[in-house]
Amino acid sequence: KVYEDEHIASKKVAKRIADLIRRKQDKHENAVLGLATGATPVEVYDELIRMHKEEGLSFKNVITFNLDEYYPMQPDAKQSYVKFMDENLFNHIDIKRENIHIPDGTLAKEDITDYCLSYENQIGAVGGLDLQLLGIGRTGHIGFNEPGSAPNSGTRLVTLDDLTRRDASRDFGGKENVPTKAITMGIGTIFKAKEIILMAWSKKKAPIIKKAVEGEMSGNVPATYLQLSDNVEFILDEDAASEL
Ligand code: GLP
Repeated sequence: KVYEDEHIASKKVAKRIADLIRRKQDKHENAVLGLATGATPVEVYDELIRMHKEEGLSFKNVITFNLDEYYPMQPDAKQSYVKFMDENLFNHIDIKRENIHIPDGTLAKEDITDYCLSYENQIGAVGGLDLQLLGIGRTGHIGFNEPGSAPNSGTRLVTLDDLTRRDASRDFGGKENVPTKAITMGIGTIFKAKEIILMAWSKKKAPIIKKAVEGEMSGNVPATYLQLSDNVEFILDEDAASEL
């Protein structure tokens, strides 16, 4: 779906999320959301906060799992995704803290494999993801599933692509300060979500959107694997869709 601009598109996505939350509330069920970081979803989160404040949208029945976190990363560091989610969403809504899950960037190396398995199990234990939000990196990554990721991959420790680290360098004051690794949900993890929404705005994303939507499916562009699923929607602004 292509919208005139990212503001309109973000509001549509927020409305979809709010409808899901309310539908689940009516049935006394939890809504399980897979959330993304980066600049792309910020306006979606702004709109959800507005709906909470002005329309009384409650997040008490919402359970969240974030896609990824840098490794190593302290939760109180400026660039951590814990901090990002707190500042851009969680601190402004009534979600229960125990319902928030973000990969732990502070683990000892030897504990990561078990931790990743338990992250998968926790998603399964609450009935799986109802909706997964995605952005897309210029390498074609979703979450931090960089080129070379397998379509059935699970949550794991990965090495970041050089382009991804360059794109993150502004946040870290230089590429040399960007961690070389991250913990990310796998492509297989994302695929299990009942609905997947990938969002992209601006001309900067147009070439990778063209590859992801129209390109040959390949591990070189992990987002092309989304072509395999019937539950995926790309929500774009006109600029991001301009090469389709
Ligand atoms: C980041 C995140 C991704 C995100 C992507 C795009 O590195 N790990 O989940 O989708 O890169 O970021 P942005 O939305 O800022 O363009």
